Amino acid sequence: MSSHDLDIARRRLAAAQRVTVLTGAGVSAESGVPTFRGAGGLWENHRPEDLATPQAFARDPALVWRWYQWRRGLIAQCRPNPAHVALAGLERNKPRCTLITQNVDGLHRQAGSRDPLEIHGDIWRLRCLGCGRVWLSRDLGLPERPACPQCGGLARPDVVWFGEALDSAFLEKAWQAARLADYMLVAGTSALVQPAAGLAAVAKEAGAFVVEVNLEPTPNSAWVDVSLFGKAGDILPRLLEAL
Ligand code: OAD
Repeated sequence: MSSHDLDIARRRLAAAQRVTVLTGAGVSAESGVPTFRGAGGLWENHRPEDLATPQAFARDPALVWRWYQWRRGLIAQCRPNPAHVALAGLERNKPRCTLITQNVDGLHRQAGSRDPLEIHGDIWRLRCLGCGRVWLSRDLGLPERPACPQCGGLARPDVVWFGEALDSAFLEKAWQAARLADYMLVAGTSALVQPAAGLAAVAKEAGAFVVEVNLEPTPNSAWVDVSLFGKAGDILPRLLEAL
């Protein structure tokens, strides 16, 4: 990463009024949460793409729940890293800042972000397939087929799976934040999954200055204004320290 690029990204940020941030698994990687597509993404030889689907859950809910229990157990031991902390600080400095995250680990909230748009849900919530009830549980010893305390129906993790629609109200807020942004920061996402891929492009078309932070080039790298390559936990505190 050149200090020239970092400098430009910093100066534009200092002048920005409306900042929209989109984060992905890379922002939590340094906390110890495995990313989906990188090393460590496999669990017992299953790819996340084969487990995080409604079909996989219909076929074998116990298998999918064992994977989620494994992920919940890992995440329970993870703490926010300097990237999460820096982004919570950004929110305090820029009142018109929207943080959109694809992460379901809750680490942005733990770091102090007030109201992240968790567009892929929250791994600590369960949802009943029978009555639709949603509840929070940090229990790491859930049974393989957790039951709804209200109707006894089978519960699933309240996260978005492949092939499922995102909550439309959340999605509308995310598009709106991208359209209105004058600065968009995209950090730690492979930008392969919608709407992540589209949000940054919408911001760019609407005139925003777009900065990406990633270990390596992404499909967005060809057209963003600045790419900062390196670890989010290193770059984000440096990008945001001047505020
Ligand atoms: P991915 O696992 O696809 O991508 C993680 C990205 O973070 C990659 O581009 C890495 O290069 C980058 N990365 C890894 N470590 C990093 C670090 N320390 N600093 C900066 N960048 C780093 O994760 P997402 O893009 O979040 O959806 O995946 C998007 C969605 O696809 C997920 O929310 C999930 C997944 O399937 C659902 O479950 C619906």
